[in-house]
Amino acid sequence: MKRLIAPSLLSADFGNLNRDIEMINKSQAHWFHLDIMDGVFVPNISFGFPVIKYIKKAAKKPLDVHLMIIEPDKYIEKFHAAGADILTVHFEACTHLHRTIQAIKSLKIKAGVSLNPHTPVHVLENIIADLDLVLIMSVNPGFGGQKFIEHSFKKIMQLKKMINTSNSKALIEVDGGVDNSNAKKLISAGADVLVAGNYIFGSKNPEKTISDLNNIINPS
Ligand code: DX5
Ligand code: ZN
Repeated sequence: MKRLIAPSLLSADFGNLNRDIEMINKSQAHWFHLDIMDGVFVPNISFGFPVIKYIKKAAKKPLDVHLMIIEPDKYIEKFHAAGADILTVHFEACTHLHRTIQAIKSLKIKAGVSLNPHTPVHVLENIIADLDLVLIMSVNPGFGGQKFIEHSFKKIMQLKKMINTSNSKALIEVDGGVDNSNAKKLISAGADVLVAGNYIFGSKNPEKTISDLNNIINPS
């Protein structure tokens, strides 16, 4: 299967958002990764519905929306209406995760669950068959540009095993500190989708950085 790249707009230049969206449209990236932070679940606040709606209008690729918020159930329909194609909630933020996942799936969009670095993979055993995606946080959520946590490789391998031995088609997405130094190893461990923010938008030529990353993870 083709491995995917999801640039995180958290590191985009919001004064030139249109330019950065067009860059992703033109590039070899596959999804737009949107980080939604509420200042409660994580110690940072990012952006909300008007910005997502704007991105949806300009984006020619799916919107992968990563909710770092408490009580996500309250807003699932609003994120769907704003244009989310994939909606990922945090395991740590959901008391009734099964209900939350069914609510997302009832809107005919893809449902994902994200795990913080300290949360073991086995907590997903009883829900893995229902998931379209599992997002492994390889930094503590809240900020771009942090250092990759090495233990994530082990979690990806454990998760891959769980997916292969269950009736699950879930993709494994990795988020935080991803760059050209760990991309190949992440794919070998079992990752299907790589999120990258700082590595892409902090580079001189983001479109080329995406293309270089794509060559690493999808060698021809
Ligand atoms: C962090 C976010 C990430 C972040 C990744 O809480 O979930 O998506 O933007 O940024 P980098 O690639 O810079 O670590
Ligand atoms: Zn994210």
